[in-house]
Amino acid sequence: MTNQDLEKLVDTSDEWITTRTGIKERRIIKRGEKTSDYCIRAARQAMEAAGVVAEELDYIILATISGDMRFPATAIFVQAALGAVNAAAWDISATCSGFLFALHEAEALIALGRAKRILAIGSELLTPMTDYTDRGTCILFGDGAGAVVVTEAEDEERGVLSTYIGTSGDQADLLYCIGSGTAGSFSSGLATNGEHLLRMNGNEVFKNAVRTMGKAAVTTLKRAGLNTDEVDWLVPHQANIRIIEATASRLHLPMEKVIVTIHKYGNTSSASVPTALDEARRDGRIRDGQVVLCVAFGGGFTWGGAAIRF
Ligand code: COA
Repeated sequence: MTNQDLEKLVDTSDEWITTRTGIKERRIIKRGEKTSDYCIRAARQAMEAAGVVAEELDYIILATISGDMRFPATAIFVQAALGAVNAAAWDISATCSGFLFALHEAEALIALGRAKRILAIGSELLTPMTDYTDRGTCILFGDGAGAVVVTEAEDEERGVLSTYIGTSGDQADLLYCIGSGTAGSFSSGLATNGEHLLRMNGNEVFKNAVRTMGKAAVTTLKRAGLNTDEVDWLVPHQANIRIIEATASRLHLPMEKVIVTIHKYGNTSSASVPTALDEARRDGRIRDGQVVLCVAFGGGFTWGGAAIRF
C-alpha cells in the first residue's frame, strides 16, 4: 500500500506522510493470511540461515499483539507447522518492543543452561486493527514477521552482549487496542463499537519514544561495557524516521550507521527490528565481528535494547 493509495482513503498526501514519518509504502496481508503464516515463513528462513533443524529447537518464543486467536498461543501453530516436536512454544505481548523482550528471554534461558537453541520471532499483522478513517494512524502501520535462532555462543567474544527491557504501565491509555479483551464489550456479547481498532495519541507517543529510545540505547550499551564509537550498526524500531534520527543523534551516530527500512514497510511493530536485522545481514552490511545495537519502544509503554556482536 503506497502513500498514493492512502491519499484515496483519507485527507493526506505523499508529501505529508514522507516528511512527517519517512514512510513511502507498507506491506499488507492478503485476505485469509494469518500471523502464524508470516511467522512460519520467517522461521524457516532463519533456521536455514542458522543451519538448525526444527527438532533441535528447545523453545519457540513469539512476540506478537496480533496473534491468530485469543488462544492458543500463535507460537503453538508455528511449532506444529515446523515440526518442532522437542520445543515448548509460547507468545509474549510487549507491543513494538516485543522482539527485544523475546531476545532478552531467549538469552537468559540459554545463559541459565535451560536451552541450547531458541527460535525468537517478532510478528505483527497490524493492518486488520488499523482504522482506515483515522489519518493520524492509518498511514503508519504495515504487516510483517522476522525471526532469529539464538544458540549457545561458540566464542566468548561473540553473541548477545547485553539486553535491557523496561515498562511504564501508567501510560497505557496513549496507545492501545481493546480488541476481544475483557475490558471491552466483546466478552458480554455486545457490539464492539470500534474497540477492535488501534487507538493512539500520536504526539504524546512521539515525545515519549524520542526520550525513551535514546535512554534505552545508552543503558544497553552501558550494560555491555561498550562506548558509542564501538557500535557498527544501530538497528532501531522503525516507527518514524524522525524518532530514528533523534535516537541516532542522541548517540552521536551518523545515519550511515543506522539500518532504515521504514520507507518500505512502515511500522511493523515487533517485526521491525528482526526484519531490519535480517535485511542488513543478508545484504552484507552487518558482518561477522561487528557490534549491532538494537533498540525499541512501544505501547504500554514498553522499551528494550540489545547489544550483539555478530
Ligand atoms: N495527513 C495530513 N495531515 C495530518 C495527518 C495525515 N496523515 N495526520 C495528522 N495530520 C495533521 C493533524 O490533523 C494536525 O493538523 P492541525 O495542526 O490542523 O491540527 C497536523 O497534521 C499535525 O498533527 P500532529 O499529530 O501534531 O503531527 P505529528 O508531527 O505529531 O505527526 C505522527 C503525527 C502520528 C506521524 C507522529 O506523532 C508519530 O509518528 N507519533 C508516534 C507514532 C508511533 O511511533 N507509534 C507507535 C509507537 S511504537
